Amino acid sequence: MTVNGELRSTQWFGATGRTGMAHRSWMRSQGFTPEVFDGRPVIGIATTWSELAPCNVHLHRVAESVKRGVWQAGGFPLEFPAMALGETLLRPTAMLYRNLLAMEAEELMRANPLDGVVLLSGCDKTTPGLLMAAASVDLPAVMVTGGPMLNGKYRGTDVGSGTAVWRFEEDLVAGRMTQEECVFAEGCMARSNGHCMTMGTASTMASMAEALGMQLPYSAAWPAVDSRRYETAQRAGQVIVGLVRQDLRPSAIMTRAAFENAIRVNAAIGGSTNAVVHLLAIAGRLGVPLSLDDFDVLARDVPTLVNLQPNGQYLMEDFCYAGGLPAVMRELAEAGLLNADAMTVTSAGIGTNVADAPCWNREVIKTMADPLQPAGTGTAVLRGNLAPGGAVIKQSASSPHLLKHRGQALVFDSPTDYYAVSNDPELDVDEDTVLVIRYCGPSGYPGMPEVSNVALPRKLLLRGVRDMVRICDGRMSGTAYGTVVLHVAPEAAAGGPLALVRTGDWISLDVPARTLTLEVSEEELASRRTQWQPPAPHASRGWTRLYCEHVMQADSGADLDFLVGASGHEVPRESH
Ligand code: FES
Repeated sequence: MTVNGELRSTQWFGATGRTGMAHRSWMRSQGFTPEVFDGRPVIGIATTWSELAPCNVHLHRVAESVKRGVWQAGGFPLEFPAMALGETLLRPTAMLYRNLLAMEAEELMRANPLDGVVLLSGCDKTTPGLLMAAASVDLPAVMVTGGPMLNGKYRGTDVGSGTAVWRFEEDLVAGRMTQEECVFAEGCMARSNGHCMTMGTASTMASMAEALGMQLPYSAAWPAVDSRRYETAQRAGQVIVGLVRQDLRPSAIMTRAAFENAIRVNAAIGGSTNAVVHLLAIAGRLGVPLSLDDFDVLARDVPTLVNLQPNGQYLMEDFCYAGGLPAVMRELAEAGLLNADAMTVTSAGIGTNVADAPCWNREVIKTMADPLQPAGTGTAVLRGNLAPGGAVIKQSASSPHLLKHRGQALVFDSPTDYYAVSNDPELDVDEDTVLVIRYCGPSGYPGMPEVSNVALPRKLLLRGVRDMVRICDGRMSGTAYGTVVLHVAPEAAAGGPLALVRTGDWISLDVPARTLTLEVSEEELASRRTQWQPPAPHASRGWTRLYCEHVMQADSGADLDFLVGASGHEVPRESH
């Protein structure tokens, strides 16, 4: 990225007099020789490393590999921290802070003497947060995700992080597992550095970054502890220097064609529903027209090819050894379902990158002719008087017999209210009941947490029921499964029709017809609306207040309204 023919970093390090001296002198306190200020590309390495984000805890090491590559290619690497968002610890939800990470990283990239950036992410929200930031700054950027953990191993079987947690919990409630066995299983499930190794949100978003062209081929799947993870990171360091010299920026890579590729890849990998909300937010930063309905329309022709938990059997380590994402994209390309010309960080079209990608295991990566699940069974977008702004359901994680279902609502205003009674043997619920959990949307919780797939009532679990229809304005972990209608928009807290449902109302879900209907007359709903009161604000100050006042609905990506779009990378005026 040049300003008057010079790299933008030259505005800092190439300056004469007091200003340049200040910029260089304090940097030399780190022991750099003067040659690093000779006009070479300065590459920021944004790392979301933190011991509070265990999925990202090894990113320091990944950064060292990136630095090697940057030095090799004649650049000057500088690592800097960006807000680490750990899915498992942050309350009320890491999603409350995705936009804060995006805002923080965007400002740091713009305000510092950087010509390009390498984005180090891993846990769920760190990948979209950094991509949103890079989109709004539009400096050349390469993503390196931290890679998945090794497969979990428990008593001779593979166990997937996240996915197994739900099963263990059900087994505990139903008396099939003891508390001691659960504690033992915890350690077996997470046995190396890396993010969740199911096709949960982290693996999905890593795959999305690769499908968008923002990370190197194969980069999504190398396990965090595989030497090739570090080789890829070193390669990314070399590549970013070249991208700066070519001035190839995210806006030229993350085009509408790239988003179409990502949506189809998400269907093929059986990816997380969270990709919907994140891709919408990233597209919003770039001005790429993308709607909720695109996810339904584009995915309809795409079968699920990847046999990974939670939809299938295997885990990311198996996916890597089977050929990783390029093998999947090659299948799509050969079926005419990939925009092959979409540009990538390799400086080649994505079709070229995957043209010869081999598959080594057809049990893990299926073919278009013999898929895991047929076309049209991916994420569906529902509409109706209960979700005028849309809702989504992951068909491949649902029970086929519930995809067309009519039942009476049992309504709770929070997951807490539900769990207070869920073990009650007298709870008036059966397998036909539709559980409605609301006030879990972007402003309602706040942060739109992954609470929608509430565990089934104990009474039903003891009878052997394993699934029931649940409807929520929140999200669901990508590692989870169940017939759960998610992201209902507008959310209850914004006065959406979900707020007007009462226990006993009939609701019909018809996924093949893409409808979600509350069988209550317009007159009755209008009458109920006159009695509805918006909930009290969650916070009177700070980030939560800013977030709640500006967050958009799920069908717009749940970004903040004033963060949509880009501000570019113009060099700010001098500081002293
Ligand atoms: Fe970090 Fe699953 S908890 S990726």
